[in-house]
Amino acid sequence: MSAKIIDGKAFAADVRGRVAEQVAQLKARHGLTPGLAVVLVGEDPASQVYVRNKGKQTIEAGMNSFEHKLDASTPEAELLALVEKLNADPAVHGILVQLPLPDHIDEAKVLAAIDPAKDVDGFHISNVGLLATGQKALVPCTPLGCLMMLRDHHGSLSGLNAVVVGRSNIVGKPMAQLLLRDSCTVTIAHSRTKDLAEVCRGADILVAAVGRPQMIPGDWVKPGATVIDVGINRIPAPEKGEGKTRLVGDVEFDSAAAVAGAITPVPGGVGPMTIACLLANTLTACARAAG
Ligand code: GUN
Repeated sequence: MSAKIIDGKAFAADVRGRVAEQVAQLKARHGLTPGLAVVLVGEDPASQVYVRNKGKQTIEAGMNSFEHKLDASTPEAELLALVEKLNADPAVHGILVQLPLPDHIDEAKVLAAIDPAKDVDGFHISNVGLLATGQKALVPCTPLGCLMMLRDHHGSLSGLNAVVVGRSNIVGKPMAQLLLRDSCTVTIAHSRTKDLAEVCRGADILVAAVGRPQMIPGDWVKPGATVIDVGINRIPAPEKGEGKTRLVGDVEFDSAAAVAGAITPVPGGVGPMTIACLLANTLTACARAAG
């Protein structure tokens, strides 16, 4: 293996430490404590784990954590009323509604109801537009974490060829916008892209965010490229015993690490950065509210 392994766990701990210092300063100077409200509708096991971790790390950073767990059958109007209440609550600086929502709830309607100044996910149309037009926005946490690791590794990203595989609103599209803002030449590839392998081979920066286990093999990676693997997929691991599973990314790690210059592992790469950036966004939202 030749690639440098980018340690997202250590990087995220560092970001959280810096956020905690600034939270302490905000408290001392302005008597303000940032507050993050997380809303979970239903009992999706993965979402429950995320929400638990978010709450724990929010408190560790010295912020207030408000958790709202609603039944899966909660009517849309009730969720919208809760969002309105959180919008009006001065102790709440950040609001995150955990996705996916149950089918009977219109996700776009709920995201549109969140006050853009408290939209720490950066999913509100207003923040999407601000990011796309190069203005001050709250930026989605996972791509923001990826960007931080890329900047740390490369210094300047200017002029690099970046390929983002995946076009979701949560990762692919905002990732492309952030890379463009840093003057990369950006390609967004997806399931209909012709000769995806060849497109990937042109990437100095390859971001995989498709949600398909180990879809990108090492021979799609340009020698020396930086590979950011956003995928978190659970696959059977019979070698660990019957019924056991393990986590893998969207990239075939061993073959990619043999040719890449740097690569994020799964787990321990992008994942821990997402919550660290959520805390950073909550701090930003609180500091902006303080003026
Ligand atoms: N579900 C999976 N990732 C995310 C995220 O970043 N934000 C929210 N709100 N829900 C998610």
